[in-house]
Amino acid sequence: MSSAATILVRSAREGDQPALADLDAAAWSPESGFPSVIQAGHPAATFFTAADPPGVHLVAELDKTVVGYVRLKPPTRLPENAHVTHVSGLAVHPAARRRGVAAALMTAAEPFARTRGARKLSLRVLGTNQPAMRLYERLGFEREGVLKEEFLIGGRYVDDVLMAKRLWAS
Ligand SMILES: CC(C)(COP(=O)(O)OP(=O)(O)OC[C@H]1O[C@@H](n2cnc3c(N)ncnc32)[C@H](O)[C@@H]1OP(=O)(O)O)[C@@H](O)C(=O)NCCC(=O)NCCS
Repeated sequence: MSSAATILVRSAREGDQPALADLDAAAWSPESGFPSVIQAGHPAATFFTAADPPGVHLVAELDKTVVGYVRLKPPTRLPENAHVTHVSGLAVHPAARRRGVAAALMTAAEPFARTRGARKLSLRVLGTNQPAMRLYERLGFEREGVLKEEFLIGGRYVDDVLMAKRLWAS
């Protein structure tokens, strides 16, 4: 992979499942995710589920290899909440980081969400996840709130930071 490789962002398809399961197994750490979920892992055939089918994912390819994904869903099933799209997962393979893959996925998430009627893109990020917070701030996300000491991870209480980007202003 050269650093000049072109990043292709496209809709996910069923055949991406093994690559996404491998990627997910390699991507998360206790600073970015929940150890209980990371340890459980994804059996190769279960990255996609009934609740998280291919249609709620965009994937990024570098040199024809899937190296990242973003999962985009309504935050709740309430019609009153339907104008918001929630980033319920974002990960890039460690070997493909700092090449703009996550930025490309999050940029593509905006038209994906707008097409589905969203006027706001929301997300939650652990207070220990500095790389992700920098990424989101750089892309124009703002902090909307903090759930203080919301999680206990590795013996330490960690904040859950709520961030969002308004899509109606751009
Ligand atoms: C966070 C993550 C998705 C970033 O993916 P990436 O493809 O490396 O990010 P990009 O290359 O698009 O980075 C874009 C910008 O984000 C910021 N950024 C990304 N990673 C960073 C890091 N490790 N340290 C500081 N800033 C970082 C920088 O501003 C960067 O721009 P630059 O490289 O020109 O300085 C990736 O590290 C990852 O998968 N982490 C584990 C899972 C995770 O944390 N997901 C988000 C949960 S809320």
